Amino acid sequence: MGCSILCWNSLSFRLVSVCLLCASVGKQCQIRNTMADCSHLKLTQIPSDLPNNITGLDISHNQLKKLVPENLTQYSNLIYLNAGYNIISKLQPELCKNLPLLQILKLEHNQLHELPDGVFATCSNLTELNLGYNIIEVKNDPFKTLENLNILDLSHNHLKSANLGLQQQLKNLRELVLYSNQITELKKEDLKFLSNTSLNSLDLSSNPLKEFHTGCLQAIGNLFGLILNNVELGENCTKKLCTELSNTAIQNLSLSHVKLSHINRLTLQGLQGTNLTILNLSKNSLSVIEDDSFQWLSNLEYLNLEDNNIFKVSSRLFYGLSSIKHLNLINALSGKIEDFSFQWLYRLEYLIMDHNNFPQITTNMFTGLKNLKYLSLYNCNINLQRITNKTFVSLANSSLQVLNLTKTRISTVESGAFSFLGQLKILDLGLNEINQELTGHEFEGLNNIEYIYLSYNRNVTLRSESFIFVPSLSKLMLRKVGCNNLAISPSPFHPLRNLTVLDISNNNIANIKEDLFDGLYKLDILDLQHNNLARLWKQANPGGPVLFLKDLPNLRVLNLKSNGFDEIPVHVFKGLQQLKNLDLGSNNLNLLPATLFDNQNSLNTLNLQKNLITSVEEDVFGPAFKSLRKLEMDSNPFDCTCESIAWFASWLNVTQVYIPGLQSQYICNTPPKYHSTLVLHFDTAACKDSAPFKLLFVITTTVVMQFIFIVLLIHFEGWRIAFYWNISINRILGFKELDRLREVFDYDAYVIHARKDTNWVLTNFTSLEENEQFQVKFCLEERDFEAGISEFEAIINSIRKSRKIIFIVTEHLLQDPWCRKFKVHHALQQAIEQSRDSIILIFLHNIQDYKLNHALCLRRGMFRSRCILNWPVQKERINAFHQQLMMALKSNSKVR
Ligand SMILES: *[C@@H]1O[C@H](CO)[C@@H](O)[C@H](O)[C@H]1NC(C)=O
Ligand SMILES: *[C@@H]1O[C@H](CO)[C@@H](O)[C@H](O)[C@H]1NC(C)=O
Ligand SMILES: *[C@@H]1O[C@H](CO)[C@@H](O)[C@H](O)[C@H]1NC(C)=O
Ligand SMILES: *[C@@H]1O[C@H](CO)[C@@H](O)[C@H](O)[C@H]1NC(C)=O
Ligand SMILES: *[C@@H]1O[C@H](CO)[C@@H](O)[C@H](O)[C@H]1NC(C)=O
Ligand SMILES: *[C@@H]1O[C@H](CO)[C@@H](O)[C@H](O)[C@H]1NC(C)=O
Ligand SMILES: *[C@@H]1O[C@H](CO)[C@@H](O)[C@H](O)[C@H]1NC(C)=O
Ligand SMILES: *[C@@H]1O[C@H](CO)[C@@H](O)[C@H](O)[C@H]1NC(C)=O
Ligand SMILES: *[C@@H]1O[C@H](CO)[C@@H](O)[C@H](O)[C@H]1NC(C)=O
Repeated sequence: MGCSILCWNSLSFRLVSVCLLCASVGKQCQIRNTMADCSHLKLTQIPSDLPNNITGLDISHNQLKKLVPENLTQYSNLIYLNAGYNIISKLQPELCKNLPLLQILKLEHNQLHELPDGVFATCSNLTELNLGYNIIEVKNDPFKTLENLNILDLSHNHLKSANLGLQQQLKNLRELVLYSNQITELKKEDLKFLSNTSLNSLDLSSNPLKEFHTGCLQAIGNLFGLILNNVELGENCTKKLCTELSNTAIQNLSLSHVKLSHINRLTLQGLQGTNLTILNLSKNSLSVIEDDSFQWLSNLEYLNLEDNNIFKVSSRLFYGLSSIKHLNLINALSGKIEDFSFQWLYRLEYLIMDHNNFPQITTNMFTGLKNLKYLSLYNCNINLQRITNKTFVSLANSSLQVLNLTKTRISTVESGAFSFLGQLKILDLGLNEINQELTGHEFEGLNNIEYIYLSYNRNVTLRSESFIFVPSLSKLMLRKVGCNNLAISPSPFHPLRNLTVLDISNNNIANIKEDLFDGLYKLDILDLQHNNLARLWKQANPGGPVLFLKDLPNLRVLNLKSNGFDEIPVHVFKGLQQLKNLDLGSNNLNLLPATLFDNQNSLNTLNLQKNLITSVEEDVFGPAFKSLRKLEMDSNPFDCTCESIAWFASWLNVTQVYIPGLQSQYICNTPPKYHSTLVLHFDTAACKDSAPFKLLFVITTTVVMQFIFIVLLIHFEGWRIAFYWNISINRILGFKELDRLREVFDYDAYVIHARKDTNWVLTNFTSLEENEQFQVKFCLEERDFEAGISEFEAIINSIRKSRKIIFIVTEHLLQDPWCRKFKVHHALQQAIEQSRDSIILIFLHNIQDYKLNHALCLRRGMFRSRCILNWPVQKERINAFHQQLMMALKSNSKVR
């Protein structure tokens, strides 16, 4: 029975080990440049497979028991070795034997107890050694070879003494950290090993120190900084300490939480004649500081009295602090501050008095602080309900630049309240209870003001003059001040031509005028979130949408979150060419107009989350997405159809833009098929499946378009088509006959003319025939028709016997029914049958083409240009006309 339990136990132990092994499988050291990070890998030995050229190795937070020098041999370039947070209990002698370059060795949080002789003998290049949080007891000068050491940390060990060696050593040590040990006293000899050292900082905090023997601190070569926080010094021991520090080089002394509840005139006397510049006396429950207690500290520049409980600041409390620049009185005072208390601090620049209670700001409270630049009274309970033109009169001669009155329960700021603060640049009146209309006079005299913070007050009402005395303002914060009516003319912001930041968010503003921001050409950031501006952008708004953003050419950041917008006018952002950051989140926007963002090509971040957007299409968002870095468009009811989302889904798949929540918050709402699936998973290939339909659409469209084109063509050009169609057919079918016919022409041309033009024809054409030069023969009805046969036949025969047909086109021809109905028709017939380009038009009158077409079904366009002749008005051109006619007559009649 016992045996089987044992076996079971051993088996389960193995299982556990196997699992532990599994857990660390797959994890391995991270190599970055020449630094290997092997921390948190449950390693029990130093890995042997790292690159040999690494200069840094972090093997902290593992399970090393030893640091074997041989196992480090291959990493001889190491400068940095961190073996902290292991279970190393022993160091080998000659630890650094093979690490000649090692400078930083960290062994904190191990189990080191004794340091073997010569353990650091070969570590002479070491500059930093951390042995904190071990259980070390120091014997036999272990650090004497560390000539280059700057920092030695032995905090949180079991040291009973600060004595780390007998002989002088560590001449380059700058920082010795000995906090949280068991050192109860500093003997005269204890720190003698540092007699050649200039120590910047000796930290003996959290030791049960009770005694400072005479000369204990003077044994150090130079002691510049001493930290004794959390040591129960009390008043007597503090006094002794200060005595021990006299004649040292001490500059920085920290005595925080040392139970020093009372300081008398002589407590700090020992520091007289030192160069002490920084003194920390915080967290001491100090309740009484006697007059003139600081008189010894004429070099002090920084005094920290935070978290004390000083009953009364008497007018001589700070006497003697003639060099002080920075005084921290946060949560330090609980009583009265006498007038003229600060008069001694004429070099003071920073006075921080946050979280204090004192009855009031008196007429001469700050008198004498002529170099004061920064005064903070944050969260002071000082009856400041009403700031009058007297309140800060004591700062009249200061050069105050920053006044922080946050959370001081102010309810009224009277006229001229800050009129003495002509140098002030920053005024913080936030988180108060101001409830008034700003007439402008409140800020009168703030001639250099740049920043007024008025956010989070009760009810600040603005009017046109509110900022008339502060035209230098560049930042104005009015968040949540209840100024819900800004429909003021002229705009209260008009005087603020240098304004770069304006915050009027969270005011429930429902009505503003189009010119509210007019002239704010430098405005960079505009916060309008959490108002009620939706109506202003509605098409149905009486007088149309109010385009209040039109005049802000340098605006980079615009916040319009939570305004109930459900419509956006297409031109609303047109002037905002510099916009980088636009927040339209938490509105009711659904369809955005195309080209809305056309001028927002350099947008970096866009927020449209929590709207009612269903579709994300390229013609709206293309420009806005162009140089985007961050997009927040989650929590919209996306319609995952090809038309609405395909472009967006493919964009999401390739973009580098940072899109928080892309894997969880971008969810399809419709169609039902995709409800609750991720937009990211929308299958754009499905849209490509619709490509055949697209193709079909394209084809159908093309066919319809072509059909319409043909119909139109036939309607307007049909005659031409028919004409050439006939010609072509004849060319193919009537070819042979044509050849035969070629030889049998009796006339060069048959002349068709109206009866009324007979005389003209006879005169002109017979004269042409008589001209030897031309040798032509015309068929003239009146002259050449055979007798005895009908006129029909005669015409047909004559046309057949003529090589060409000449039309004498006149108004008469168009009206001559015989010509129109028969001759022309037959001539055309003939021309078509013979496939001859055989018609010549001679225009005696200027006849419009449409008339020609209407009367004879002929158009000029049907004929070659050389076959269209105009009878010249000028006589001298008649010869040229004859030449043209001959050319036309002699030309080849065959249609090419
Ligand atoms: C040192 O290296 C040897 C050989 O690689 C190995 O057997 C041994 O476990 C290592 N020791 C430690 C403490 O890493
Ligand atoms: C260190 O050695 C590795 C190979 O072991 C090599 O890839 C790397 O370039 C070397 N780095 C330097 C800085 O020499
Ligand atoms: C200290 O480092 C330098 C190079 O920085 C080297 O030349 C010297 O040998 C090292 N000293 C020791 C004792 O290893
Ligand atoms: C401090 O010293 C004074 C006399 O120098 C003595 O009366 C007083 O008891 C001491 N206080 C403490 C807490 O030891
Ligand atoms: C104080 O500083 C000055 C100049 O920095 C120096 O000359 C003087 O020796 C210092 N005094 C002490 C006590 O260190
Ligand atoms: C301060 O205001 C009061 C009225 O409230 C006025 O009589 C007085 O002249 C003002 N003082 C200064 C210095 O403006
Ligand atoms: C005023 O002090 C508060 C609290 O320290 C701080 O949050 C605020 O930023 C300060 N105001 C200015 C303008 O520095
Ligand atoms: C705010 O103050 C104005 C007058 O300054 C007053 O008409 C209005 O009722 C006040 N609003 C609130 C909410 O107190
Ligand atoms: C506005 O800023 C310009 C440039 O910074 C400055 O010269 C000008 O004085 C400022 N205007 C006011 C009224 O402070």
